[in-house]
Amino acid sequence: MIKLRNLERRYPLAKEKFFYVLRDINIDIQEGEFISIMGPSGAGKSTLLHILGMHDHGWRGEYFFRETAVHHLKTKERATLRNEQIGFVFQQYHLLDDLTVYENLDIPLSYRRYSKSERAALVADTLDRFQIVGKKDLYPRQLSGGQQQLVGVARAIIAEPKLLLADEPTGNLHSGQGEEIMELFRKLNDEGMTIIQVTHSEKNASYGKRTIQLRDGWITKREQ
Ligand SMILES: Nc1ncnc2c1ncn2[C@@H]1O[C@H](COP(=O)(O)OP(=O)(O)O)[C@@H](O)[C@H]1O
Ligand SMILES: [Mg+2]
Repeated sequence: MIKLRNLERRYPLAKEKFFYVLRDINIDIQEGEFISIMGPSGAGKSTLLHILGMHDHGWRGEYFFRETAVHHLKTKERATLRNEQIGFVFQQYHLLDDLTVYENLDIPLSYRRYSKSERAALVADTLDRFQIVGKKDLYPRQLSGGQQQLVGVARAIIAEPKLLLADEPTGNLHSGQGEEIMELFRKLNDEGMTIIQVTHSEKNASYGKRTIQLRDGWITKREQ
């Protein structure tokens, strides 16, 4: 599903000098995998996730996503691919504060070719599935952290992406809430969704089937 070849990301430091955030990254990910990326702070984990999520374009190398050569796509084409196939969950939830839960869930659908009634049905189904029907007219600030992240995951998967990316999704949650999110990921993965999560927690990593270790921009260890 994903193939990275000789991928690197660097920032200019001074004249002719660069700070390498990712170096010579080569990764193969099959459809249906559940992968945990671990490593110390500053290792390049978020950078890698944002490249995979097609938010960051300042990298070099090759990135194939389901047979598409992302490195050959224009920014706009990448955005289309992302909107259609990738969901992203952030540590800080990143819900839109001025929109209700219902409206937050409707946003990803507005980027795709759904009719008004299909959108309404999908939002209703998702509210139901995540057991947040009673919260649909509330604003993010009226929810607990755990509830906000539930909405964050619901928003990420409502348009049925092939790939779910999550950057420390439980980093701000109590352990019970975190476990709920991890159980949810397990269920989504069982249903066939490919998941790549960044985590500091061994326990969360154990929900995944394989771990990739990053350190100073290098892959230092992989478990098959
Ligand atoms: N815009 C930027 N300019 C320069 N350095 C950056 C920039 N963004 C991130 N970095 C650096 O890249 C490194 C990796 O960052 P990040 O991917 O966020 O690490 P992690 O998520 O593993 O903690 C850090 O040293 C960070 O300071
Ligand atoms: Mg990070």
